[in-house]
Amino acid sequence: MLHPFRIFSAILIIAHPLLLKMSLQTICRLQVTREDADTLGHRVCDPDADSLATSGQNFLKQLNQCKPFTPDQLKVIQDLLSSGNTPFGPPSTWSSSTLDKLSGLLPMLPQNILQNIPEVRLKKKNQIRRGKRQVSKSVRKLRYCPPDKAVTEEVLQDKLMPIYYTPEELGACLKGQFLLDHLPLVTSHAYTDRQMFELKLNLDREFPDGYPEWVLYDLGVLLEIMSEEEIKKWNITSPETLRYLLDSQPTDDLASSIIQRYVDHGNPLNATALDAIGPRYICLLNVDQLRRINEQAIKMAKPLQVSKCSQTTVNTLYPKAKRAFSDRHNEFPAYYDLIKPYLSKHPTLVGKKEQSAVGFYITFWGERC
Ligand SMILES: *[C@@H]1O[C@H](CO)[C@@H](O)[C@H](O)[C@H]1NC(C)=O
Ligand SMILES: *[C@@H]1O[C@H](CO)[C@@H](O)[C@H](O)[C@H]1NC(C)=O
Repeated sequence: MLHPFRIFSAILIIAHPLLLKMSLQTICRLQVTREDADTLGHRVCDPDADSLATSGQNFLKQLNQCKPFTPDQLKVIQDLLSSGNTPFGPPSTWSSSTLDKLSGLLPMLPQNILQNIPEVRLKKKNQIRRGKRQVSKSVRKLRYCPPDKAVTEEVLQDKLMPIYYTPEELGACLKGQFLLDHLPLVTSHAYTDRQMFELKLNLDREFPDGYPEWVLYDLGVLLEIMSEEEIKKWNITSPETLRYLLDSQPTDDLASSIIQRYVDHGNPLNATALDAIGPRYICLLNVDQLRRINEQAIKMAKPLQVSKCSQTTVNTLYPKAKRAFSDRHNEFPAYYDLIKPYLSKHPTLVGKKEQSAVGFYITFWGERC
């Protein structure tokens, strides 16, 4: 049976106009199975409000990872969650493990839902007891952190912490050296986009010329709001940093910028780098980058799975792969398995006889005999 997640994705491809704009490359990716489940996950983030209302409750857990939402999507999500008509039940029954599961959505929930969650009510009460809550009268820019909002280590340990702070308060209270010292913890929470933006501003103030490499390892959720301009300031000096950044599954645009920064710094696209780029991003490499890949790298890297990439990519890498594995030319069927990921799935490429497995075998045996 098809996983409901995949059916949903399939419906979205047909139904959502936004997806029509998707490149062929992305659509091709959607046709593959398990290996690209992560990519499929991202498609769940694109639903329109109607599809969400009919199928949304099955996907709330996955939606957790998605942002930003349109106001329509947000409204549907909020209505669904407060209706209690989800696997999580009504908010008044949510335990702390439910909150864990929903953590990415919590900062987006309105007060009337939050008020119903027992754990949140408890925390709020304690907070009010600690200091009289100052009602921020639409204060646009807070120059000082209100005393009862000071962010301490203890506050940071609370996974619900983002929901106690307006974006302005967060900007005023979580900054400077304290922010730098606690960056990994800070960026492990889920924030609204505006909150993340405030945190980014504070980081930018610390590093006006761009973030040093160690900060890149601690960006966590903030990576998703980084602009290409920002990434152009970074020095990515090792395949480890490249891997680390790509492992957090940035969008294709950000991933392209990250890969370019790695190459700009004079780093090789060797096997370590290719493994970091992996099947998810390999199709993003441009002609100049592809030229930098040599046979040795192809030989040592995990199979690159470029069949679904553009013709240019296949045309550039296939001959290299052939040379890379030429010493195993007589091993059958091992050679075919090695070369298969570099064969195009599109007709008219690489010569017809090599398109299909059957064709390939014929060629292979033809050459051999
Ligand atoms: C990147 O490296 C260059 C050259 O070494 C240096 O001038 C610049 O300050 C570095 N930038 C960052 C953000 O570390
Ligand atoms: C690839 O290059 C990086 C940076 O120069 C190096 O650290 C790494 O060991 C290389 N990997 C291989 C497999 O040669």
